Amino acid sequence: MHDQPKYRPLRPSAFFQDGRSARPLIPGTVAHGQLGEDATYLTGKSEGQYLTEVPLPATDHLLRRGRERFDIYCSPCHDRAGTGNGMIVQRGFRRPPSLHIDRLRQVPDGYLFEVISQGFGVMPAYAAQIPVDDRWAVAAYVRALQLSQNATLADVPALERARLGPGTP
Ligand code: HEC
Repeated sequence: MHDQPKYRPLRPSAFFQDGRSARPLIPGTVAHGQLGEDATYLTGKSEGQYLTEVPLPATDHLLRRGRERFDIYCSPCHDRAGTGNGMIVQRGFRRPPSLHIDRLRQVPDGYLFEVISQGFGVMPAYAAQIPVDDRWAVAAYVRALQLSQNATLADVPALERARLGPGTP
C-alpha cells in the first residue's frame, strides 16, 4: 500500500475535470449518524432555553417504552419508583436525589433529557446506550412517575376509582 499509486489528501489530479483528486460529496448525501437536522430534538434546548415539554405526543406507547427503558437503565440507581435507593446504591454507590423532590418536579422536560444524555455529577451519560427517541420516552416516564407520587383521588378517572378498592368514594 505504501508504494502503490494513490492520492494524498488535497493533492491535485489531472484525471478529473475540476482538477481535484478528492470527489465532492454528492448533494443530499449524509454520513451515517451525522444527520443532526433537528438540534432542538437532539439537545432538548431551543435558543438556549430548555424545552418545557417532551416534543413527542404523550401516548400510551411512549410511556410504556419509557417505563421499560427506565427500569433497565435508571432503576439500578434510582430504583423503580425513583426514590434513589436502587441496588447499586445499596451496594455503596452515591445515592441520587429522589426524583420526587420539588426542585426536580419543577425542572423542564428538556433538562431531564439533558441529564440523561450528558450525565450529571457522578451519574454517567446515557447518550451512547439510549437512542434519542428513547431518551425522550424516559423523560416522559419520569414525569409520569412524579405524578404518580403526588396524585390525588381527583386525578384518577371516575371509572378507574372503583378499582382502587373499598374505602374510596
Ligand atoms: C449508576 C447510577 C445511576 C444511573 C444508572 C442513573 N443515575 Fe441519575 N443520578 C445518579 C446520581 C448518583 C445522581 C446525583 C449525581 C450527583 O449529585 O453527583 C443522579 C442524578 C440524576 C438526576 C438529578 C439531576 C439534578 O439536577 O439533581 C436525574 C433527573 C437523573 N439522575 C435521572 C436519571 C435517569 C432518567 C436515568 C436513566 C436514564 C438515570 N438517572 C440513571 C445515579 C444514576
